[in-house]
Amino acid sequence: MTNTILVTAASRRGTTLEVAQMIADELRRSGLPVDVLPIKAVTDLSAYSAVVIGSPVHFGQWLPEAVQFLEDHRDALSQMPVAYFTVAMTMHEDTAEARAKTMAFLDPVLAALPEIDPVGIGLFAGKMDRKALPRVEQWVATLNGYPDGDFRNEFSIRTWANLIRDDLTPVHAESIAWEWVYDEIALPANL
Ligand SMILES: Cc1cc2nc3c(=O)[nH]c(=O)nc-3n(C[C@H](O)[C@H](O)[C@H](O)COP(=O)(O)O)c2cc1C
Repeated sequence: MTNTILVTAASRRGTTLEVAQMIADELRRSGLPVDVLPIKAVTDLSAYSAVVIGSPVHFGQWLPEAVQFLEDHRDALSQMPVAYFTVAMTMHEDTAEARAKTMAFLDPVLAALPEIDPVGIGLFAGKMDRKALPRVEQWVATLNGYPDGDFRNEFSIRTWANLIRDDLTPVHAESIAWEWVYDEIALPANL
């Protein structure tokens, strides 16, 4: 049986895909095999034992291709551990209010696909560079009061990856726990 984890994300300008890379990198540090792919490049989940799915929020919603991905793979995703993460400028200040607002963007996704029950939901700040945006999108950013800058916090992204790791890999986590027990049992004999 495969134990490879897929970390996949939708992204318009690469920010969320870079967050996906950080999550994958952190999971790999535990020795787990991890693939990272843009969401549109994923057609088949049979090679994976768990999936981490991310999208930025644009105009108050997850990108359509991320929602489509969940719909296309809903049967497979309802049978394996899944985690969601979202990248949004509302999180540029990490407060309880910002978290509630950012979670609300995900509520329609959770409600539309109740058979997928994520083991974790990561909420991360994104990046805003008005100069790189078309005029209309600059207005959206200004109307919403999003400041320019890269507000991604690599430490909180990596911490979240560690928090979800055991829930993504129940079998791996169990074998690590048993190794620990055996080490403990072996210890007195070595003294
Ligand atoms: C046109 C546009 C609309 C956006 N709408 C929202 C929004 O409704 N809420 C929010 O928190 N962030 C919003 N953002 C901020 C993005 O979530 C943020 O820039 C993110 O880092 C983009 O990730 P990406 O580079 O992976 O597409 C918006 C950004 C743009 C360019």
